[in-house]
Amino acid sequence: MMIIAQITDLHVVAKDRLCYRRVPTNAQLAQAVTHINALDPRPDAVIASGDLTDHGREAEYEMLREILAKLIPPVFVIPGNHDQREVLRQAFASAGYMPAPDAPFMNYAIEQFPIRLIGLDTTVSGHHHGMMCEDRLRWLDRTLGARPDAATLIFMHHPPFRTGIQWMDASGLHGGRKMQEIVARHRQIVRVACGHIHRPIHLVWGGTIASVAPSTCHQVALDLSAGDGFGFIMEPRAIQLHVWDPGYGLVSHLSYVRGDYESVSMLSGATDEVRSEVITQNRRDYAELCRTEYDAKVSDGR
Ligand SMILES: [Fe+2]
Ligand SMILES: [Fe+2]
Repeated sequence: MMIIAQITDLHVVAKDRLCYRRVPTNAQLAQAVTHINALDPRPDAVIASGDLTDHGREAEYEMLREILAKLIPPVFVIPGNHDQREVLRQAFASAGYMPAPDAPFMNYAIEQFPIRLIGLDTTVSGHHHGMMCEDRLRWLDRTLGARPDAATLIFMHHPPFRTGIQWMDASGLHGGRKMQEIVARHRQIVRVACGHIHRPIHLVWGGTIASVAPSTCHQVALDLSAGDGFGFIMEPRAIQLHVWDPGYGLVSHLSYVRGDYESVSMLSGATDEVRSEVITQNRRDYAELCRTEYDAKVSDGR
């Protein structure tokens, strides 16, 4: 098993500042870090899918590094449209996985886990839209072709598809259709995990599942009309937990970051004896399902 926590759209600002003069993005990221560290079992790796800072300034990356330094699992970062590729690269130069300083894009593959992680840099300097240009498409095709049997999660900032939130789709990805053809040719991709939209979204795309994770700070209001939108909303902040189950594939959960969510045990009214009986029976039922169903070899019917 491997657990990958996806955090996205952190929008970290300089110390003691607020994002949009009202959202405490730094404190909210710190809460997400505490949340991840406290998970049991703890994730094996964290991927941060862009918009790590709000303006791409050095002071913001300093703050980002300070907050992420508290994360116990290793973290892998890629840029979003609010980042500055070069400033980000310098801030994380010592991380060991960054491409060489003369590489035009921050694309890389992480090979040390049961799931291969491919980080894609979709940013276009000075613009909010994203781009999979011919260079980046070729790099992706070649990198996927190098390990066709390794279950692979691709993470990128801009979703390579239209989401229906039109004002956000306007700053979407150019080259997504070409990327879709490449993804469809490589059958080992178990997820294309994105950010940018600040909402949980998923669809079948290129023969795999593509998804967007919600933000660790503010969310984008759900507005599927042709209206002017541009609204953000303080809906619950969350991270995505991608759990690798070799028997089934990548199972993804939404995990809400700290809030006043009431948590009640369904056994709270039971006596100790009944509780212990129910738990024992439940474990027996789970073991039985593992034996006959979950871990059973699938017959091909012949
Ligand atoms: Fe964002
Ligand atoms: Fe973005």
